[in-house]
Amino acid sequence: MMEGTAIHNDSTTVLGDVTFQTAPMPTLDPDLYRLSSEEAAFFKAQIGIDDDEDLKRHILEVQAKAYKIVPYPCIHEFYFLRYVSYRSMASESTITRSTVLSINISSYPVYEHILKLGRERSDAVLLDLGCCFGVDARKAAADGFPAKNIIASDINNEFLELSHELFRTTPTSYAACLLPGDVFDPAFLSIAARPNDVSSALAIDLSSLKSLNPLHGRISAINVARFFHLFTEDKQLHLARALAGLLSAQPGSVICGFHIGSPEKGMAATVLGPEHRLFAHSPKSWTSLWDGEVFEKGSVKVETELVKLVTRGVERFMMGWSVVRL
Ligand SMILES: C[S@@+](CC[C@H](N)C(=O)[O-])C[C@H]1O[C@@H](n2cnc3c(N)ncnc32)[C@H](O)[C@@H]1O
Repeated sequence: MMEGTAIHNDSTTVLGDVTFQTAPMPTLDPDLYRLSSEEAAFFKAQIGIDDDEDLKRHILEVQAKAYKIVPYPCIHEFYFLRYVSYRSMASESTITRSTVLSINISSYPVYEHILKLGRERSDAVLLDLGCCFGVDARKAAADGFPAKNIIASDINNEFLELSHELFRTTPTSYAACLLPGDVFDPAFLSIAARPNDVSSALAIDLSSLKSLNPLHGRISAINVARFFHLFTEDKQLHLARALAGLLSAQPGSVICGFHIGSPEKGMAATVLGPEHRLFAHSPKSWTSLWDGEVFEKGSVKVETELVKLVTRGVERFMMGWSVVRL
């Protein structure tokens, strides 16, 4: 075992509304660390470490610190490192342990559209919500979305601080706004009273933000990766309504992400095993939630893709999705 890796012996660990009981969270396993050549090039360029072993040591150190804060499976499994497109694997019915199975913002079908918004909509703001280290935000910034118009937000300020540690940046060298807050605290994110108000995000000084509420109706693109599945069905609907209130009413504005899905909505297995279950929407229920319940029917285009994965013998599904305002 690597020095500094964390062991979680608590009998109950709560991650969002998901309570994992009985089994301790798994110990960190450095053998799970691997980078494709594309991923290695991204992290080397962004972090400024060129040597493979030095890069690995640095990433493992930050991973261990984060896992001590909250032991999310995505930190354990190094999902934050992954840029390989899951769509290229969608035809496989079984994805094995040795296959990289993660998804990040650059693999979304709407990714080029998001970058185009950053280039062509003068006041476009990108929000990466529940961002942990905010790697998706860094990727979008590296690909040209203006960093000063990016907000990366998480309930744990320590993760946001670790974002700077991981990428060896400071608030001066990386212009994005790193904003701590709880999406279920109305003082941080309330459901907008006038969701169709079209106001410019440029009127707001992002660096002075204390909450997301001043941005109602002003955000062009919202990324919520591996996030919705942490919460109950009711809270997922609440969160969807709150995000809809942040989204600009301009056609082309987009909310997107991916999380655990299911062919039929209901309780679904997590990567930790069949006994650890959480609420998952199906493509059908997710589509009708956005198109008809959250947004007026016909005012958005919803796309979903369900991918079957088998990890350590546990079958589960991930759902990639996007909601674009028409
Ligand atoms: C499973 S991680 C996903 C991280 C990242 N989006 C990714 O794809 O790698 C979920 C993140 O949501 C954050 N989170 C959990 N509950 C939250 C809340 N109520 N408000 C804001 N962030 C929250 C956690 O701190 C954690 O960083």
